[in-house]
Amino acid sequence: MKALIYHGAEDVRVDNVPEPRLQEEDDILLRVTATAICGSDLHLFRGKVPGMKQGDILGHEFMGVVEETGRGVTRVARGDRVVVPFTIACGDCFFCSRSQYAACETTNPARGALLNRKGVRPGAGMFGYSHLYGGYDGGQAEYVRVPRANVGPLRLPDGVADEKVLFLSDILPTGYQAVLNGNVGPGSTVAIFGAGPVGLMAAASARLLGAERIFMVDHHDYRLAFAASTYGVEPINFERIDDAAERIIELTQFRGVDCSIDAVGFEAKGSVIETALTELRLEGSSGQCLRQAIAATRRGGVVSVPGVYAGFIHAFMFGDAFDKGLTFRMGQTHVQQHMPFLLERILDGSLDPALIISHHLPLERAADAYRIFNEKQESCRKVVLTPTGGALPREPLLEDSLAP
Ligand SMILES: NC(=O)c1ccc[n+]([C@@H]2O[C@H](COP(=O)([O-])OP(=O)(O)OC[C@H]3O[C@@H](n4cnc5c(N)ncnc54)[C@H](O)[C@@H]3O)[C@@H](O)[C@H]2O)c1
Ligand SMILES: [Zn+2]
Ligand SMILES: [Zn+2]
Repeated sequence: MKALIYHGAEDVRVDNVPEPRLQEEDDILLRVTATAICGSDLHLFRGKVPGMKQGDILGHEFMGVVEETGRGVTRVARGDRVVVPFTIACGDCFFCSRSQYAACETTNPARGALLNRKGVRPGAGMFGYSHLYGGYDGGQAEYVRVPRANVGPLRLPDGVADEKVLFLSDILPTGYQAVLNGNVGPGSTVAIFGAGPVGLMAAASARLLGAERIFMVDHHDYRLAFAASTYGVEPINFERIDDAAERIIELTQFRGVDCSIDAVGFEAKGSVIETALTELRLEGSSGQCLRQAIAATRRGGVVSVPGVYAGFIHAFMFGDAFDKGLTFRMGQTHVQQHMPFLLERILDGSLDPALIISHHLPLERAADAYRIFNEKQESCRKVVLTPTGGALPREPLLEDSLAP
């Protein structure tokens, strides 16, 4: 089958590789019908995440049709159309029983990303996200093995297009969890840093929950313009003014917003020094966006962080956060927790995540797609890849042909 393979930093290629097989009783094999490239994939692509090996299959946003099921699979059946969360969760450990699926402590056999870990177990394994997160093959492929299939895959009704529901696998629940974590509700003021797909899904979710005023900060005018026309955000280009947080403070009676959302993460631009230090690995993450988020938030407000961070940050303004009495909430998304509610909102028309798609490409062109998305070419917002031609349904299994 064809799959997008990691060969090294900025070197991904579509290669022919063996098809996956069922390994555990609760596995399914999925024929992928649509898959996307996430901003998190760009951290891998740029060589910023340790634990990648040549030959790894990338991709953690995908959906498709169930081709084979292990004996222990009860929640989905062959032929079902499903969307798959990027977090692999067991469903019954300490954390899964609290619906904190991204913290599942049984699905990542590797060491995880904690630096000062003591004896703490790693959080959930993830598809296509390095050997730190379990080394699971990803879904930018014609087929993918999906473990824990009684917990993750969500069955989809007929008649809803792939592109409308594909982002249930990651960025839609991620944007939604970010606004839930930020206590966003009717009348809230929100500042979203980052107008990428996660920032856009946060804007859509903030609107859904009744936010009154949304500021959005980025340096790509085309992304800001889309967010302004689609979600009614007030755009702020941080390269055109001295200080985006100061502007937000001025626009909010010198108090700041109820909630800031950092949808950027550890590769935040805007500080030459921190960008250089992170390149040299003398700094774990750039603190540029977090400092802005802290500065833009009112006393008693919330800084919600869906953007991915790694290791330490020296220039973290913890004293300012203390002085303002801020709350911080963050982390990987508990995708399984939010999927059913968000599917309902898509079906009743109150959310349409497909609006953000700018590029549809065949899987064969995935390497070009990475370059276009990474370099923000062609006003790229979000790429959907479709396996074509090769991904024909498999021969029926013997048991199927014997079935009545
Ligand atoms: N928590 C989760 O479970 C989860 C899930 C998906 C993605 N993520 C993370 O969310 C982040 C965003 O993902 P995306 O798909 O939107 O990526 P993206 O790279 O397309 O978007 C990031 C945007 O941030 C902008 N930006 C850079 N520096 C900035 C700054 N200082 N201030 C404001 N904007 C700045 C960029 O110009 C870009 O438009 C990434 O870190 C990704 O890894 C987390
Ligand atoms: Zn992702
Ligand atoms: Zn679990």
